[in-house]
Amino acid sequence: MNHKLTLKREEFNGSCGCLDPNFNPLSDESNCGSVRPFPWERHLFSQRRLVLKYVILAGTLINSGEFREITNSSNTEGISLMRTKTIVTIVLCALSLATACVSGTQTNTGKKKKGPNETVRIGFSMDTLKEERWQRDKELVEQRCKEVGAECEVQVANGDDSLQTKQCDNLLTKGVDVLIVAPHNGQIAASIVEAAHRQGVPVISYDRLIRNSDVDLYVSHQVVKIGEMQAQYALDNRPKGNYILIGGSPTDNNALLLRDGQMNVLKPAIARGDIKIISDQFAKEWKAEEALRITEDALTKTNNDIQAIVASNDGTAGGAISALPPQLVGKVLVTGQDAALDAVQRIVDGKQTMTIYKPIRPLAFSAVDSALKLARGEPVEAKDKINNGKIDVPSILQEPIVVDKNKVMQTVIKDGYHKMEDVYKNVPRDQWPKQ
Ligand code: GAL
Repeated sequence: MNHKLTLKREEFNGSCGCLDPNFNPLSDESNCGSVRPFPWERHLFSQRRLVLKYVILAGTLINSGEFREITNSSNTEGISLMRTKTIVTIVLCALSLATACVSGTQTNTGKKKKGPNETVRIGFSMDTLKEERWQRDKELVEQRCKEVGAECEVQVANGDDSLQTKQCDNLLTKGVDVLIVAPHNGQIAASIVEAAHRQGVPVISYDRLIRNSDVDLYVSHQVVKIGEMQAQYALDNRPKGNYILIGGSPTDNNALLLRDGQMNVLKPAIARGDIKIISDQFAKEWKAEEALRITEDALTKTNNDIQAIVASNDGTAGGAISALPPQLVGKVLVTGQDAALDAVQRIVDGKQTMTIYKPIRPLAFSAVDSALKLARGEPVEAKDKINNGKIDVPSILQEPIVVDKNKVMQTVIKDGYHKMEDVYKNVPRDQWPKQ
């Protein structure tokens, strides 16, 4: 997580040459020195390799002993024939070199880079607007696009993978310069990256990682750390007892990373015998009903003897709480994630114990700002890298923040994420904290 990777990218210069003198155009491993091409640019490198091979071939021919022998001979017919052949070869090479330069910037092998005053068109493909946070993501991406003068089209797939793929194809057909994708299924979305790259369009993986693909950039929060924070909070406050673990959708890479983080913290306590995992399941599509069912089963199994529920987000936390008998509400520790308004209300009411606040503004803004840079061929600074099964994806990861009853004021309310009157709506006014 702490890897420092500054990703730089350079546009091909006017002569279509690499800016690094160490660049070996004939090597497949070559990275143009320290400059790593973005995945969609790799085919341009191979095209240039081919052209350069022709040029080198022509040069070899000119300098070859055979050629000199002929030109030194008195056979003038041979000389002129050879000269004509050489000139034709060189002209052909020059022509194909010129074509490569154009295709590198203008044709279907690579989208033309936008100038600083040209409008960038961004396509934002979203899985869902179900959770409140995604509505913020949408609004803030649109807001940032307006601020920076970019055009933005948002498509929402409502949890349907083939619809999300179609919507992205559609955005590509309309000619977007960059795609920002919050995938429903992190594996299936790899085909979206392929389709975009075929048209030279870079792809930013938003909040959720697109797996096994050459995706260009990942913007998210530190997801493993969120899982660790949830579990650490539970362990600090319920160091012994029976636990229920409720994961999110197994098709969402975040759900898996959260579970990794939770287990990093819980494993030693399980090994010591301090805590016992009664149930360890994933809630399909992050559904509250699934969390309710998982919690009910565990309550039945233990005869209501549960001390903590590590729910991966606020939606599943809500489902779990609704399964608790009244005498256990507020007694069983329940974690969450997203700082959704209903969850923060439950926190101040004492029904949910904590949530993780992930400020959406820096996430949405970094996605749009990076999209602009990618479209313009400017460097994007990505300090982290996360492996997606195929490559280490340059990543920009924001810091998550723990929110419990004592921290509501100094976090979500102070930031203006929620209004005080909304959060404390169910609490008598004389019990509100002082501002
Ligand atoms: C996760 C996301 C969470 C939550 C969940 C359900 O990928 O990181 O914030 O909203 O999806 O949509």
